[in-house]
Amino acid sequence: MVGRFVSIMVRGCIVLVGLGLLGAPVFAQGNGPARTPPMGWNSWNHFACKVTEADVRSAADAIVSTGMKSAGYIYVNIDDCWQGTRDEKGVLHPNENFPDMKGLSDYVHAKGLKLGIYSSPGPKTCADHEGSLGHEELDAQAYAHWGIDYLKYDYCSFQGDFAAQMAAYKKMHEALEKTGRAIVFSLCQYGMDRVWRWGPSVGGNLWRTTGDISDDYDRMAYIGFGQNGLERFAAPGHWNDPDMLEVGNGKMNKDEYRTHMSLWCLLAAPLLAGNDLSKMTPDTLAILTNPEVIAVDQDALGMQGHRVAQEGQLEVWVKLLADGSRAVGLFNRGESVMPVTAYFRDVGAGDTGSVRDLWEKRDLGVFNSSFTAQVPTHGVVLLKVK
Ligand code: GLA
Repeated sequence: MVGRFVSIMVRGCIVLVGLGLLGAPVFAQGNGPARTPPMGWNSWNHFACKVTEADVRSAADAIVSTGMKSAGYIYVNIDDCWQGTRDEKGVLHPNENFPDMKGLSDYVHAKGLKLGIYSSPGPKTCADHEGSLGHEELDAQAYAHWGIDYLKYDYCSFQGDFAAQMAAYKKMHEALEKTGRAIVFSLCQYGMDRVWRWGPSVGGNLWRTTGDISDDYDRMAYIGFGQNGLERFAAPGHWNDPDMLEVGNGKMNKDEYRTHMSLWCLLAAPLLAGNDLSKMTPDTLAILTNPEVIAVDQDALGMQGHRVAQEGQLEVWVKLLADGSRAVGLFNRGESVMPVTAYFRDVGAGDTGSVRDLWEKRDLGVFNSSFTAQVPTHGVVLLKVK
């Protein structure tokens, strides 16, 4: 962490606030939700607007039965398209696809999981459903009444300048706080106005840094590798969000999905699976649940990784871990198998390093000054170097 720190009290919690290189506040510690990047599932990438309560219940069932819950996936998040209409008092009711939101929440909670929901600071959501503009407190109360634990708040139809945008996000944050329920607040406005600088000040626990991901290697790589430089804005309780996972949705191959997962873990990104959990192949499940890879994402130090070397299409990324070791990603973005070398000096690991392959769960030995691996096209070798 760079820069000077002062400690302040916020809502009874000690928070270290640092001044980063450019004077931007870096919120480094606190006791609120999302101490590590949130993990769970979200309905959008697979179900989009067709999502129903039954789909969400079966996602919750699958999270438990497949072992994803044991691997750390806890949030079951309904994205857009659950909304019906407001009654004469302004209270928003779910549509016919979600006949019993409280019952759904009880069902999810009984499994030891948490339930998330979606709205917009504008009058309409991205899929043209009812947003929260002018109804923030009523909506927050409804969420608390249903037992919601996570809100994704998506910019969509919001109209206004930068100050109005900040005020709108803060307004919902305050409405959520007023309910007394711990609700993770996820800002979704695609990285406009360098949201990573002010997201924490409006109560954001995470903020999308880009436009939407799709199940496509080029799009995923553009977003994931493009996160370099944002690392000093991530810390426990406050995460950069390069969007949800596409692992298992079918349009990338195994090496590409491993790259996606490895990169998101090095980035300390939220891990929200976006596939149909009731129909997972063994490869998809293995990519989503490898405990050694997930440990990189969930490491208690909460550092976001960054690129330390690049040679054409070959990149080396590093993430410092709480035990002093480094997670190191050797990436090949090119179109043929290539050797990629991590120099220990570059990754801050000293002269000699013991190297473990995290996907293969295998110790590779002790190496002097560098380690080289053959990396498949669009693939990765993910290491832990001590
Ligand atoms: C935006 C968001 C997506 C999804 C849709 C829903 O595009 O970025 O993640 O929530 O809206 O309409």
